Amino acid sequence: MFKIVRREEMTGGTVILNEIAAPLIARKAKPGQFVILKANEDGERVPLTMADSDPEKGTITVIYMVVGKSTALFKTLAVGDGYQDIIGPLGKPTHLEKVGTVVCVGGGTGIAVLHPITRALKEIGNHVISIIGARTKDLLILENQMRKVSHDLRISTDDGSYGHHGFVTEVLKEILENEDVKQVVAIGPVPMMKFVSKITAEYHIPTFVSLNPIMVDGTGMCGGCRVSIDGKTKFACVDGPEFDGHKVDYDELMRRLQAYCDEETECYEDYCTIRDAG
Ligand code: NAD
Ligand code: FES
Repeated sequence: MFKIVRREEMTGGTVILNEIAAPLIARKAKPGQFVILKANEDGERVPLTMADSDPEKGTITVIYMVVGKSTALFKTLAVGDGYQDIIGPLGKPTHLEKVGTVVCVGGGTGIAVLHPITRALKEIGNHVISIIGARTKDLLILENQMRKVSHDLRISTDDGSYGHHGFVTEVLKEILENEDVKQVVAIGPVPMMKFVSKITAEYHIPTFVSLNPIMVDGTGMCGGCRVSIDGKTKFACVDGPEFDGHKVDYDELMRRLQAYCDEETECYEDYCTIRDAG
Protein backbone atom coordinates (compact mmCIF):
# COMPACT_ATOMS: atom_id res chain seq x y z
CA MET A 1 0.00 0.00 0.00
CA PHE A 2 1.13 3.55 -0.76
CA LYS A 3 0.38 5.65 2.32
CA ILE A 4 -0.81 9.25 2.21
CA VAL A 5 1.51 11.35 4.40
CA ARG A 6 -0.04 14.78 3.74
CA ARG A 7 -3.48 15.78 2.56
CA GLU A 8 -4.82 19.25 1.80
CA GLU A 9 -8.18 20.43 0.59
CA MET A 10 -8.10 23.36 -1.81
CA THR A 11 -10.79 25.55 -3.36
CA GLY A 12 -13.32 24.60 -0.67
CA GLY A 13 -12.77 20.85 -1.07
CA THR A 14 -13.19 20.43 -4.83
CA VAL A 15 -9.44 20.04 -5.36
CA ILE A 16 -7.37 17.68 -3.19
CA LEU A 17 -3.62 17.38 -2.67
CA ASN A 18 -2.15 14.03 -1.63
CA GLU A 19 1.52 13.61 -0.79
CA ILE A 20 2.14 9.86 -0.94
CA ALA A 21 5.01 7.66 0.22
CA ALA A 22 6.33 6.04 -2.96
CA PRO A 23 10.14 6.02 -2.63
CA LEU A 24 10.98 4.07 -5.79
CA ILE A 25 8.80 6.31 -7.97
CA ALA A 26 10.05 9.49 -6.22
CA ARG A 27 13.66 8.49 -6.97
CA LYS A 28 13.02 8.32 -10.72
CA ALA A 29 10.23 10.88 -11.30
CA LYS A 30 10.93 13.86 -13.54
CA PRO A 31 8.78 16.94 -14.30
CA GLY A 32 5.99 16.17 -16.77
CA GLN A 33 5.66 12.47 -15.93
CA PHE A 34 2.54 10.82 -14.57
CA VAL A 35 1.42 7.94 -12.38
CA ILE A 36 -1.66 5.70 -12.47
CA LEU A 37 -3.40 5.19 -9.12
CA LYS A 38 -5.94 2.66 -7.88
CA ALA A 39 -7.63 3.22 -4.53
CA ASN A 40 -8.55 -0.44 -3.99
CA GLU A 41 -8.78 -3.85 -5.67
CA ASP A 42 -11.88 -2.98 -7.71
CA GLY A 43 -10.92 0.65 -8.25
CA GLU A 44 -10.60 2.39 -11.60
CA ARG A 45 -7.09 3.20 -12.85
CA VAL A 46 -6.74 6.99 -12.70
CA PRO A 47 -3.81 8.72 -14.47
CA LEU A 48 -2.53 11.89 -12.80
CA THR A 49 0.50 13.93 -13.77
CA MET A 50 2.67 14.49 -10.70
CA ALA A 51 2.63 17.94 -9.11
CA ASP A 52 5.88 17.23 -7.24
CA SER A 53 8.29 14.53 -6.13
CA ASP A 54 10.84 14.45 -3.34
CA PRO A 55 13.52 11.76 -3.70
CA GLU A 56 14.95 12.51 -0.20
CA LYS A 57 11.60 12.09 1.56
CA GLY A 58 10.55 9.35 -0.85
CA THR A 59 7.23 11.00 -1.69
CA ILE A 60 5.27 12.05 -4.73
CA THR A 61 2.48 14.65 -4.80
CA VAL A 62 -0.68 14.59 -6.89
CA ILE A 63 -3.39 17.23 -7.03
CA TYR A 64 -6.77 16.28 -8.48
CA MET A 65 -10.20 17.78 -8.97
CA VAL A 66 -13.14 15.74 -7.66
CA VAL A 67 -15.09 15.15 -10.86
CA GLY A 68 -16.47 11.59 -10.71
CA LYS A 69 -16.78 8.34 -8.78
CA SER A 70 -13.06 7.50 -8.61
CA THR A 71 -11.87 10.94 -7.52
CA ALA A 72 -14.76 11.09 -5.01
CA LEU A 73 -13.45 7.79 -3.61
CA PHE A 74 -9.89 9.19 -3.52
CA LYS A 75 -11.25 12.14 -1.53
CA THR A 76 -12.36 9.80 1.26
CA LEU A 77 -8.73 8.71 1.86
CA ALA A 78 -7.19 10.36 4.94
CA VAL A 79 -3.57 10.72 6.08
CA GLY A 80 -2.43 7.20 7.02
CA ASP A 81 -4.77 5.59 4.46
CA GLY A 82 -3.29 4.56 1.17
CA TYR A 83 -3.68 3.69 -2.46
CA GLN A 84 -3.53 -0.01 -3.19
CA ASP A 85 -1.55 0.42 -6.42
CA ILE A 86 0.48 3.18 -8.03
CA ILE A 87 2.51 2.62 -11.17
CA GLY A 88 5.03 5.06 -12.55
CA PRO A 89 6.76 7.22 -13.36
CA LEU A 90 5.12 6.93 -16.79
CA GLY A 91 5.43 9.00 -19.95
CA LYS A 92 8.28 11.08 -21.22
CA PRO A 93 9.67 13.84 -18.99
CA THR A 94 9.37 17.46 -20.13
CA HIS A 95 12.02 18.53 -22.62
CA LEU A 96 13.99 21.12 -20.63
CA GLU A 97 16.28 23.57 -22.40
CA LYS A 98 17.78 26.96 -21.67
CA VAL A 99 16.29 29.15 -24.39
CA GLY A 100 15.89 32.60 -22.78
CA THR A 101 12.44 33.90 -21.90
CA VAL A 102 9.80 31.22 -21.39
CA VAL A 103 6.10 31.76 -20.66
CA CYS A 104 4.34 29.07 -18.58
CA VAL A 105 0.55 29.15 -18.85
CA GLY A 106 -1.63 27.21 -16.40
CA GLY A 107 -5.41 26.97 -16.24
CA GLY A 108 -7.39 25.55 -13.29
CA THR A 109 -5.96 22.30 -11.93
CA GLY A 110 -3.48 22.28 -14.84
CA ILE A 111 -1.47 24.70 -12.66
CA ALA A 112 -0.52 21.73 -10.44
CA VAL A 113 1.16 19.98 -13.35
CA LEU A 114 2.78 23.18 -14.56
CA HIS A 115 4.44 23.88 -11.19
CA PRO A 116 7.38 21.39 -11.28
CA ILE A 117 7.97 22.17 -14.97
CA THR A 118 8.12 25.92 -14.26
CA ARG A 119 10.56 25.32 -11.40
CA ALA A 120 12.81 23.19 -13.60
CA LEU A 121 12.77 25.75 -16.44
CA LYS A 122 13.83 28.46 -13.99
CA GLU A 123 16.51 26.27 -12.37
CA ILE A 124 18.28 25.73 -15.69
CA GLY A 125 18.55 29.47 -16.26
CA ASN A 126 15.51 30.59 -18.24
CA HIS A 127 13.70 33.85 -17.50
CA VAL A 128 10.27 32.54 -16.55
CA ILE A 129 7.05 34.52 -16.85
CA SER A 130 4.02 32.56 -15.61
CA ILE A 131 0.34 33.16 -16.19
CA ILE A 132 -2.18 31.29 -14.05
CA GLY A 133 -5.92 31.52 -14.44
CA ALA A 134 -9.13 30.29 -12.88
CA ARG A 135 -12.84 30.95 -13.22
CA THR A 136 -12.85 32.92 -9.96
CA LYS A 137 -10.39 33.87 -7.18
CA ASP A 138 -11.49 31.05 -4.85
CA LEU A 139 -10.66 28.44 -7.50
CA LEU A 140 -7.10 29.63 -8.07
CA ILE A 141 -4.52 27.13 -6.74
CA LEU A 142 -0.77 27.30 -5.95
CA GLU A 143 -0.40 31.07 -6.35
CA ASN A 144 2.42 31.34 -3.79
CA GLN A 145 4.20 28.25 -5.08
CA MET A 146 4.05 29.53 -8.67
CA ARG A 147 5.32 32.95 -7.56
CA LYS A 148 8.38 31.28 -6.00
CA VAL A 149 9.32 29.43 -9.17
CA SER A 150 8.69 32.33 -11.60
CA HIS A 151 10.51 35.62 -12.17
CA ASP A 152 7.17 37.27 -12.93
CA LEU A 153 3.69 35.91 -12.15
CA ARG A 154 0.52 37.19 -13.85
CA ILE A 155 -2.96 36.17 -12.78
CA SER A 156 -6.33 36.16 -14.52
CA THR A 157 -9.84 35.22 -13.48
CA ASP A 158 -12.79 34.81 -15.84
CA ASP A 159 -15.05 36.89 -13.57
CA GLY A 160 -12.44 39.57 -12.73
CA SER A 161 -12.46 38.76 -9.00
CA TYR A 162 -8.61 38.71 -9.00
CA GLY A 163 -5.95 39.88 -11.44
CA HIS A 164 -6.78 40.43 -15.10
CA HIS A 165 -10.50 40.14 -15.91
CA GLY A 166 -10.62 37.48 -18.64
CA PHE A 167 -8.74 34.45 -19.94
CA VAL A 168 -5.04 33.62 -19.62
CA THR A 169 -4.82 33.93 -23.40
CA GLU A 170 -5.45 37.70 -23.22
CA VAL A 171 -2.55 38.12 -20.79
CA LEU A 172 -0.38 35.94 -23.02
CA LYS A 173 -1.06 38.13 -26.06
CA GLU A 174 0.02 41.23 -24.16
CA ILE A 175 3.27 39.54 -23.07
CA LEU A 176 4.03 38.32 -26.58
CA GLU A 177 3.63 41.89 -27.87
CA ASN A 178 6.18 43.21 -25.36
CA GLU A 179 8.73 40.46 -24.65
CA ASP A 180 11.11 38.37 -26.72
CA VAL A 181 9.55 35.03 -25.80
CA LYS A 182 11.38 31.93 -27.02
CA GLN A 183 9.08 29.18 -25.77
CA VAL A 184 5.61 28.66 -24.26
CA VAL A 185 4.37 25.78 -22.11
CA ALA A 186 0.60 25.52 -21.59
CA ILE A 187 -1.29 23.09 -19.34
CA GLY A 188 -4.98 23.24 -18.53
CA PRO A 189 -8.35 22.70 -20.20
CA VAL A 190 -8.16 21.56 -23.83
CA PRO A 191 -9.79 24.77 -25.20
CA MET A 192 -7.18 26.82 -23.31
CA MET A 193 -4.30 24.81 -24.81
CA LYS A 194 -5.91 25.05 -28.25
CA PHE A 195 -6.20 28.85 -28.12
CA VAL A 196 -2.76 29.36 -26.55
CA SER A 197 -1.31 27.33 -29.43
CA LYS A 198 -3.32 29.29 -31.99
CA ILE A 199 -1.90 32.56 -30.66
CA THR A 200 1.71 31.36 -30.39
CA ALA A 201 1.54 29.94 -33.93
CA GLU A 202 0.91 33.49 -35.16
CA TYR A 203 4.12 34.56 -33.39
CA HIS A 204 6.06 31.42 -34.49
CA ILE A 205 6.90 30.54 -30.89
CA PRO A 206 7.55 26.84 -30.06
CA THR A 207 4.79 25.67 -27.71
CA PHE A 208 4.42 22.54 -25.61
CA VAL A 209 1.15 21.26 -24.16
CA SER A 210 0.42 18.33 -21.84
CA LEU A 211 -2.47 16.15 -22.99
CA ASN A 212 -4.78 14.17 -20.73
CA PRO A 213 -6.82 11.79 -22.90
CA ILE A 214 -8.62 8.77 -21.46
CA MET A 215 -6.03 6.16 -20.45
CA VAL A 216 -6.24 2.53 -19.43
CA ASP A 217 -2.91 0.66 -19.18
CA GLY A 218 -0.58 3.67 -19.52
CA THR A 219 2.06 1.59 -21.29
CA GLY A 220 1.14 1.84 -24.97
CA MET A 221 -0.87 -1.41 -25.18
CA CYS A 222 -4.58 -0.48 -25.32
CA GLY A 223 -4.75 2.50 -27.67
CA GLY A 224 -7.20 4.30 -25.37
CA CYS A 225 -5.05 7.41 -25.16
CA ARG A 226 -4.52 7.86 -28.88
CA VAL A 227 -4.23 11.41 -30.12
CA SER A 228 -3.54 12.85 -33.56
CA ILE A 229 -0.34 14.86 -33.82
CA ASP A 230 0.42 16.36 -37.21
CA GLY A 231 -2.05 13.87 -38.71
CA LYS A 232 -0.27 10.87 -37.19
CA THR A 233 -1.55 8.65 -34.39
CA LYS A 234 0.42 8.88 -31.16
CA PHE A 235 -0.18 7.39 -27.73
CA ALA A 236 -0.10 10.07 -25.04
CA CYS A 237 1.06 7.57 -22.39
CA VAL A 238 4.30 6.60 -24.13
CA ASP A 239 4.87 9.27 -26.82
CA GLY A 240 3.72 12.09 -24.48
CA PRO A 241 1.99 13.38 -22.46
CA GLU A 242 3.71 16.50 -23.85
CA PHE A 243 3.46 17.38 -27.51
CA ASP A 244 4.10 20.23 -29.91
CA GLY A 245 1.01 22.38 -29.31
CA HIS A 246 0.89 23.51 -32.94
CA LYS A 247 0.40 19.94 -34.19
CA VAL A 248 -2.34 18.63 -31.89
CA ASP A 249 -5.83 17.85 -33.21
CA TYR A 250 -7.63 19.46 -30.25
CA ASP A 251 -11.15 18.96 -31.65
CA GLU A 252 -10.63 15.21 -31.90
CA LEU A 253 -9.20 15.15 -28.37
CA MET A 254 -12.27 17.02 -27.05
CA ARG A 255 -14.61 14.58 -28.83
CA ARG A 256 -12.77 11.56 -27.42
CA LEU A 257 -12.80 13.02 -23.89
CA GLN A 258 -16.61 13.31 -24.12
CA ALA A 259 -17.07 9.67 -25.20
CA TYR A 260 -18.08 8.27 -21.81
CA CYS A 261 -19.59 11.40 -20.26
CA ASP A 262 -23.10 9.92 -19.80
CA GLU A 263 -21.76 6.71 -18.23
CA GLU A 264 -19.42 8.69 -15.97
CA THR A 265 -22.25 10.95 -14.77
CA GLU A 266 -24.53 7.97 -14.13
CA CYS A 267 -21.80 6.12 -12.24
CA TYR A 268 -21.02 9.19 -10.09
CA GLU A 269 -24.71 9.75 -9.29
CA ASP A 270 -25.11 6.09 -8.24
CA TYR A 271 -22.01 6.37 -6.05
CA CYS A 272 -23.31 9.57 -4.37
CA THR A 273 -26.74 7.99 -3.76
CA ILE A 274 -25.22 4.93 -2.08
CA ARG A 275 -22.72 7.07 -0.10
CA ASP A 276 -25.36 9.54 1.09
CA ALA A 277 -27.69 6.70 2.14
CA GLY A 278 -24.90 5.75 4.57
P1 NAD B 1 -11.37 26.06 -16.11
O1 NAD B 1 -12.36 25.58 -17.09
O2 NAD B 1 -11.85 26.75 -14.91
O3 NAD B 1 -10.33 26.97 -16.88
C1 NAD B 1 -9.17 27.48 -16.25
C2 NAD B 1 -8.66 28.65 -17.05
O4 NAD B 1 -8.30 28.22 -18.35
C3 NAD B 1 -9.67 29.76 -17.25
O5 NAD B 1 -9.70 30.60 -16.12
C4 NAD B 1 -9.12 30.45 -18.47
O6 NAD B 1 -8.13 31.39 -18.17
C5 NAD B 1 -8.51 29.30 -19.25
N1 NAD B 1 -9.44 28.91 -20.31
C6 NAD B 1 -10.50 28.06 -20.21
N2 NAD B 1 -11.14 27.99 -21.40
C7 NAD B 1 -10.49 28.82 -22.24
C8 NAD B 1 -10.66 29.20 -23.60
N3 NAD B 1 -11.67 28.70 -24.34
N4 NAD B 1 -9.79 30.08 -24.14
C9 NAD B 1 -8.77 30.58 -23.41
N5 NAD B 1 -8.55 30.26 -22.12
C10 NAD B 1 -9.39 29.40 -21.55
O7 NAD B 1 -10.46 24.88 -15.65
P2 NAD B 1 -10.82 23.79 -14.55
O8 NAD B 1 -12.29 23.67 -14.37
O9 NAD B 1 -9.96 23.95 -13.37
O10 NAD B 1 -10.41 22.49 -15.31
C11 NAD B 1 -9.11 22.16 -15.43
C12 NAD B 1 -8.97 21.42 -16.73
O11 NAD B 1 -7.61 21.17 -16.89
C13 NAD B 1 -9.72 20.12 -16.81
O12 NAD B 1 -10.33 20.07 -18.08
C14 NAD B 1 -8.64 19.10 -16.69
O13 NAD B 1 -8.92 17.93 -17.43
C15 NAD B 1 -7.46 19.86 -17.29
N6 NAD B 1 -6.19 19.38 -16.75
C16 NAD B 1 -5.28 19.02 -17.66
C17 NAD B 1 -4.08 18.52 -17.22
C18 NAD B 1 -3.10 18.10 -18.22
O14 NAD B 1 -2.15 17.44 -17.90
N7 NAD B 1 -3.29 18.47 -19.46
C19 NAD B 1 -3.80 18.42 -15.87
C20 NAD B 1 -4.76 18.83 -14.96
C21 NAD B 1 -5.97 19.32 -15.41
FE1 FES C 1 -3.28 2.44 -23.29
FE2 FES C 1 -1.92 4.67 -23.73
S1 FES C 1 -3.25 4.24 -22.09
S2 FES C 1 -2.06 2.94 -25.00
